[in-house]
Amino acid sequence: MPAVHVAGELATGSAHAKKRHFSLDDDSLTLKLTGRRGKTAKGSVDLLSLVAPLQSGKTSDGARDGTSFTVTTEDGKRLTISADNSLLAALRERMRSRTMRALAFGRHGSPQEVMKLTRVLLPSAVPPSFVLVRVHAAALNPIDKLRIEGGLKALRPEAAWPVKIGYDLAGVVEKVGEDAYGFAVGDAVAARMQSGVYSGAVAQFALVHVATLAKKPAAVSFTDAASLGLAGETALQALRRGGAGPGKKVFITGGAGGVGTLAIQIAKLLGSATVATTASAGEKAELCASLGADVVVDYTSRRFEDELRGYDVVLDTTNESARCGAVVRDGAHVVTIAGTPTVEAVHEAGLQPNFIVRHVLNKKRNVAAEQAAKRAGAQWSYLFLKPSGADLATLLSWVKEGKLKPVLDGVWPFEEAAAAAARCFSGRAKGKCVVTCAEC
Ligand SMILES: NC(=O)c1ccc[n+]([C@@H]2O[C@H](COP(=O)([O-])OP(=O)(O)OC[C@H]3O[C@@H](n4cnc5c(N)ncnc54)[C@H](OP(=O)(O)O)[C@@H]3O)[C@@H](O)[C@H]2O)c1
Repeated sequence: MPAVHVAGELATGSAHAKKRHFSLDDDSLTLKLTGRRGKTAKGSVDLLSLVAPLQSGKTSDGARDGTSFTVTTEDGKRLTISADNSLLAALRERMRSRTMRALAFGRHGSPQEVMKLTRVLLPSAVPPSFVLVRVHAAALNPIDKLRIEGGLKALRPEAAWPVKIGYDLAGVVEKVGEDAYGFAVGDAVAARMQSGVYSGAVAQFALVHVATLAKKPAAVSFTDAASLGLAGETALQALRRGGAGPGKKVFITGGAGGVGTLAIQIAKLLGSATVATTASAGEKAELCASLGADVVVDYTSRRFEDELRGYDVVLDTTNESARCGAVVRDGAHVVTIAGTPTVEAVHEAGLQPNFIVRHVLNKKRNVAAEQAAKRAGAQWSYLFLKPSGADLATLLSWVKEGKLKPVLDGVWPFEEAAAAAARCFSGRAKGKCVVTCAEC
């Protein structure tokens, strides 16, 4: 985004000041006061710190109304200035052009307390292997809750605040970084975004690494495309690792969830002979059967380990893999995506945990599940999703061909993004919770 410089002169209104100049640079407002004897004082204030005062009509540091700003000058003095209409108009215009709306949190805590729709700075430059996407739809995931609560901070501490929420999006490419081959401005795309400082799908714009990006077929809606990334890529990668395929018996726990609804269908698409799952009786069990599950165990009244035998592959989405020993045959693979990750899985995800984090992970390791699998002659592993544009392209092509049906618990307008997040974080959703961003 080119730097635009706005400058002007304000009415003095003060017996001591001759002139008050303002200049509005990329991210800050600079005020300069020239006294009657030619002495000057200068100070800057960060543009983002003016968002709340401009929106609420109050200044952050207690000035009387929304037209006053206090800045600390270079020599440490406090300078309060009454902004006239020209400065306010320039500030509001700059706010619109330099910031965007996003669902974000400013500190760790419970989502209800710390998560809100807010204004954050627009990405000002597109790194080489990234594209800037105008977001049309975004999806929430349980990991967003974990991140907000601080459950990931030992593994991946936040590097920039406020932290924008969300990993799944679909939208249109607005700008292309210099090494972002294969994508052009105007392409409709979807992604399970990279983790870290550039994440943040529930926003007007997002910087997305090309390795995570896939082109969205015209026949697939933005909301459907946004729902696929994290849950679908996880399901595909876990089922591949477990060896789902022709003739195989596959057991997926939590069939009505974001991962489960896709995993049931993908297991069938890969040719699996039998797909069993768990869901509460009623609409969730019916949903799982309609997606292709051959066996649905009502987990609220029955124990799956009493009913299922001889399974080749387990995909555990509910942290119940310790109960899967009786379910699997010799040579089976139990893949879990829930509970505490193993040190190996963390390394596979490209993270380098320090000694203390490794110690904690080892202490919390799901030894019971590992031993249950071992006793049955099966393998057990924890899988961390690896964001993959290629896998997402496969999922999108299946949706386009009518072979895979995204299941949406609901679609919320951007204004109600926090409600969409709350529904996802409740752990009761039926498929995915999606937010539309086109009109924000
Ligand atoms: N390792 C990774 O890379 C990775 C990737 C994706 C997800 N995950 C993890 O995988 C888990 C599942 O993710 P998700 O997005 O599918 O979650 P989700 O969409 O929030 O799952 C909600 C669904 O799970 C059902 N459910 C809850 N407990 C159940 C149980 N004991 N048996 C059967 N169904 C149950 C709920 O139905 P009821 O209301 O009827 O209970 C609800 O429909 C989460 O812990 C998530 O963090 C990990």
